[in-house]
Amino acid sequence: MDVHINGIRLHTREYGQGAAVLLIHAFPLSGAMWQPQVEALADDYRLIVPDLRGFGNSEVPPGPYAMETLAEDLAALLDVLGVPQVGIVGLSMGGYVALALLRRYPQRVRALVLCDTRATPDTDEARAGRELNAQLAETQGASAIAEKMLPNLLAPGAAPELRAHLRQIIERNQPQGIAGALRGMAMRPDSAELLPHLSIPVLLLVGAQDSLSPPAEMRTLQQAIPGSQLVEIPGAGHLANVENPAAFNAALGAFLGSIA
Ligand code: MLT
Repeated sequence: MDVHINGIRLHTREYGQGAAVLLIHAFPLSGAMWQPQVEALADDYRLIVPDLRGFGNSEVPPGPYAMETLAEDLAALLDVLGVPQVGIVGLSMGGYVALALLRRYPQRVRALVLCDTRATPDTDEARAGRELNAQLAETQGASAIAEKMLPNLLAPGAAPELRAHLRQIIERNQPQGIAGALRGMAMRPDSAELLPHLSIPVLLLVGAQDSLSPPAEMRTLQQAIPGSQLVEIPGAGHLANVENPAAFNAALGAFLGSIA
């Protein structure tokens, strides 16, 4: 369904019934990346799976898209759907958005699952790299971004079919959306100061072979969040939810079940 919020059209899918769980996708994908979780969890939960602004079937307004703006979109979406409180699952860029949502609307977040992500801002070098990638998207399109990023998103042994499937999801996105998110991620603030104050249940998931937000970095995150648990997903890189959905879903399902 489409909702009109914050001056744009946002596309979202909803599945199942029960406690509400919001799944926030990674860059440069869309809500379509959550299909393995939809299949596993829709019997037990109300899953809300948006395409962030600039991605999938959502509108592609001019960027940059600050993580706070993406979080405001989701808060407005939850208002439209009549969902006061939600469990949030955010992978990578989805994690940055989840932390922005938590900063602005702590009372709306019932539990948090941060996957393959970090709380720290970009280094100057990372910011410069983002600008180059934004220009690459604008001049050569989404397929150039897919070509450049896919090797880092997946573990080296990932199946060719999975690679092809993700490439398709990436290539359906528009260059302006990709560039808008890159410039927005480059602007994101440090969220580390939020972590010691979290008093909700928190689960951290990381692909054992994630080279973008490696297990060692996720362990630092876990040590900063009181009472949080970290699960390493074997045989997976950065996109752990699609690379090893069985292990990812088992950990996520157990966590969601424990807070129900
Ligand atoms: C993602 O998967 O969302 C990106 O790797 C995040 C980033 O580029 O920082």
